[in-house]
Amino acid sequence: MTQYDITVRQGLPEEMQTLLREYPRDAWPDHPNFAASIERWMGAHTMFRQIAAIVATDTEEMLDKQLDPDWYAMRLGHFGNALVRNLHGHHTWEDRKFFPELMEADERFTNGLEMLEADHDAMDGLLDGLVQSSNRFIKLMDLSRQDAPSELPEVLNQATGIQAFLDRHLTDEEDLTVPILLHHKLRG
Ligand SMILES: [Fe+2]
Ligand SMILES: [Fe+2]
Repeated sequence: MTQYDITVRQGLPEEMQTLLREYPRDAWPDHPNFAASIERWMGAHTMFRQIAAIVATDTEEMLDKQLDPDWYAMRLGHFGNALVRNLHGHHTWEDRKFFPELMEADERFTNGLEMLEADHDAMDGLLDGLVQSSNRFIKLMDLSRQDAPSELPEVLNQATGIQAFLDRHLTDEEDLTVPILLHHKLRG
């Protein structure tokens, strides 16, 4: 574990905030270099947070026996799958295309971008955990319905872990990369 590990990080490390100080978050939307593609990319982040919140809230309500189990299982399959598939696609694009482009534009932030790549690796473990616990719940609903609720605490544990991860990762990622995009007039 390093000082930049997502489990101990409190925000974007000071030494990576050189451009954020020049381009504070409040000023992004009105900046002439704030391209539609940047807005769409941030919109994807909002969608990930929303889907993760649906999975967590549904599971809490299911634990409180407020939802029909079949309805819950259907939504868990749908939203869990959407979250995992979309996040994998998003991270692959960032690692292969987006971050290399930013590293080339401004070499001062290479270790920050490597920190974000390491976050993606950590996320893979969490996503696998959600897939496994969700699949066990869904399978038990078919095979041994009365045992299915025993999986719910683990589904909730994974879903809230993903929420906490997203809160830290997405905020730090935006704080690091949007100022680079604005400064170098990229993705316009
Ligand atoms: Fe990311
Ligand atoms: Fe992202």
